[in-house]
Amino acid sequence: MILRDFLSKRGKHIEDTVDLSAGTLAWNLRSKRKASEMDGFINATIGSATEDDGELMVLPTLIEELSNLNGDQIFSYANVRGVNDFIQAWRKDTIDTYPAYLREGAVTFSTLPITACGGLTGGLMISAQVLFDKGNTIIAPNFRWRNIDNVFFKNLQFKESTYELLDKEGNLNFDNLISKIHKAEKEDKKIGIYLNFPNNPSGISPTYDEVKKFQEIVEEISIPTTIFLDDAYEGCAYEDSVIEHSLFPYLIGLNEDVVTIKVDGVSKRYFAYGARLGLVTVGFGEETSEEDKMEVRELMAKAARTNTSSAPKGIQVAMSNVLNDSEKNNQVHEEKKRNISILEDRYNFMKKLLGERESSVLQPVGFNSGFFGYFQIKGKRLASEISHKLLEKGLGTVPFENTKNGLNGVRVAFCSISEKNIEKAVDILYSI
Ligand SMILES: Cc1ncc(COP(=O)(O)O)c(C=O)c1O
Repeated sequence: MILRDFLSKRGKHIEDTVDLSAGTLAWNLRSKRKASEMDGFINATIGSATEDDGELMVLPTLIEELSNLNGDQIFSYANVRGVNDFIQAWRKDTIDTYPAYLREGAVTFSTLPITACGGLTGGLMISAQVLFDKGNTIIAPNFRWRNIDNVFFKNLQFKESTYELLDKEGNLNFDNLISKIHKAEKEDKKIGIYLNFPNNPSGISPTYDEVKKFQEIVEEISIPTTIFLDDAYEGCAYEDSVIEHSLFPYLIGLNEDVVTIKVDGVSKRYFAYGARLGLVTVGFGEETSEEDKMEVRELMAKAARTNTSSAPKGIQVAMSNVLNDSEKNNQVHEEKKRNISILEDRYNFMKKLLGERESSVLQPVGFNSGFFGYFQIKGKRLASEISHKLLEKGLGTVPFENTKNGLNGVRVAFCSISEKNIEKAVDILYSI
């Protein structure tokens, strides 16, 4: 590295630990290369939903609105807290997804959101920076989005405490999380807990009963704790018993020692991955005055300002125009419903096929939501070896292999497999 003598400690650490050629992007590249050589190749690596013809799934109402914006609406600076009409509309849009009995609490116990440049990643970065220092403990599931390792454990250098998200049968289980919380309560002055449902890569969300159990865990916490809720895939759940919105309203107002930070954005919620617009909402464990809420919101805005200044304007204006116009709002929600129902059809078909088959190598976990299905490897073979084999057979997957964290499996992004290719994908998976 020619710049080695110029680097900060953080720069050196990033250089030494972050590997952009591992993970989803690298496996997507491999898959694309293979697809150019092999007719009928199925690329199930990337977490962006596609139509059956392979085009990116988008929301036509949002595209129309964006294409009608003028120069000022796109190119002038946005307020550092976010375009106010958009922020108000986003809060309403979020709260409308909650059951009616939780809506008032969601306002009482939380700040208005602020915008973050750089999507949910930016939101996670700025909120984590203002609350935790290098060496502070963050508890995170072994099944986790790989970039959270980059942001929390490599860039910000938090101390990693990993809990097992699933039991041996591949179902959600909080026992290991509870023991990690108890350990941290003895050893640390404060902790962070990273949660992501629907989970990447396992495709798992809690049932309503499991949410209740989680509330009991939160009630028992006895040291200052920040829960980071990564709500990237909120709204995509495919079973009636499974929560189809954020856990946020269930976790606030429960315990004065627990603050919950909801990080969401347009990336997946509005099928606008490249718009790079995230939001951060802070929720409190006890009733908080309007002045205190404003102060906390200002702190987040200051963190955003000192990080990436302000978020992109055009997407905020377009989203505001759509959400604040009842006809466009209905239209965009119909389009969202249509997209999610396509994902649901793929999910249902895949689940039906998996119910009819057995593999000596792969064991599906109980995925029930989001964009992915996940298959644990039975026996000793490594997930990367299986993914290489699947690639040769015509299916691109992403291996998750971390023996230290008990992770050895492949992720299949059904969000980007056309319904007619689902059976072929399962055939390839079960031929391994
Ligand atoms: C769990 C999770 N969180 C966050 C993100 C990234 O969101 P953004 O593109 O808005 O930064 C992803 C993207 O794949 C994800 O899977």
